[in-house]
Amino acid sequence: MTVSPALELDRLTAGHHKVPVVRELGLSVAAGEIVALLGPNGAGKSTTLDTTCGALPPLSGQVRVSGRRIRGVRDAARYRVAYVPQHRGLFRQLSVDENLRLRARSRRAVNDVYERFDALGALRGRQAGLLSGGEQQLLALLCALALDAKVLLIDEMTTGLAPGVVRRLAEVVKSVASEGMAVLFVEQHVHLALELCDRAYVLNHGECVLEGAGPELRERIGELSASYFADGRDADRSDDDVP
Ligand SMILES: Nc1ncnc2c1ncn2[C@@H]1O[C@H](COP(=O)(O)OP(=O)(O)O)[C@@H](O)[C@H]1O
Ligand SMILES: [Mg+2]
Repeated sequence: MTVSPALELDRLTAGHHKVPVVRELGLSVAAGEIVALLGPNGAGKSTTLDTTCGALPPLSGQVRVSGRRIRGVRDAARYRVAYVPQHRGLFRQLSVDENLRLRARSRRAVNDVYERFDALGALRGRQAGLLSGGEQQLLALLCALALDAKVLLIDEMTTGLAPGVVRRLAEVVKSVASEGMAVLFVEQHVHLALELCDRAYVLNHGECVLEGAGPELRERIGELSASYFADGRDADRSDDDVP
């Protein structure tokens, strides 16, 4: 018997107001795997994540979590899909502790998070909106941990953050994945993404133009850069074309 991946996009066509911006995307993430979704602005990365978490209905194709179809946000919540959107999705007026408790599956899950990440304990009474960017992103990731998510979706994890903070967040992502969470993340910083991920997909104009293992794509960085400028029908341009 074949085991279903933790997350599977099966010929997913997604978009807004019935206009497709992502076409026939096939993608999978196994439990414990870290997968990057790369591509230029407007390629359809956020649309893909919005559809994966059930917030946008697919125009065709399916999203499945452990083989079960996601038809909306209720299914996504039931099958423990956590989404850290680009602006982190925190309740900015509430404290760190209140944000964690609102998502957590149990009081124990909150305590476990404080035990593992003691830096957060010192901030527990602080209003989330007053945290630094890095602290907010850490809190958003740890809310997913407290939820005991099976699938974690992260949009633009490191945008605007200092390199030291970025490294720390990358360690947190590795740590949660090592416990079996399937992670799909969107990242502007290609080198960081390829270091962190097991595999990556590159989207351009809503089509997957390149995919491969992180180390393999690090060696094919010229081809990867070129794929950012491809139009989905012209992925064979030479490196000389890259600005
Ligand atoms: N809420 C929306 N309504 C209509 N069009 C949208 C909406 N959000 C994104 N789009 C369009 O969908 C395309 C893909 O956007 P997006 O998924 O945000 O790309 P990315 O995250 O890769 O930058 C863009 O052309 C964008 O203008
Ligand atoms: Mg986006």
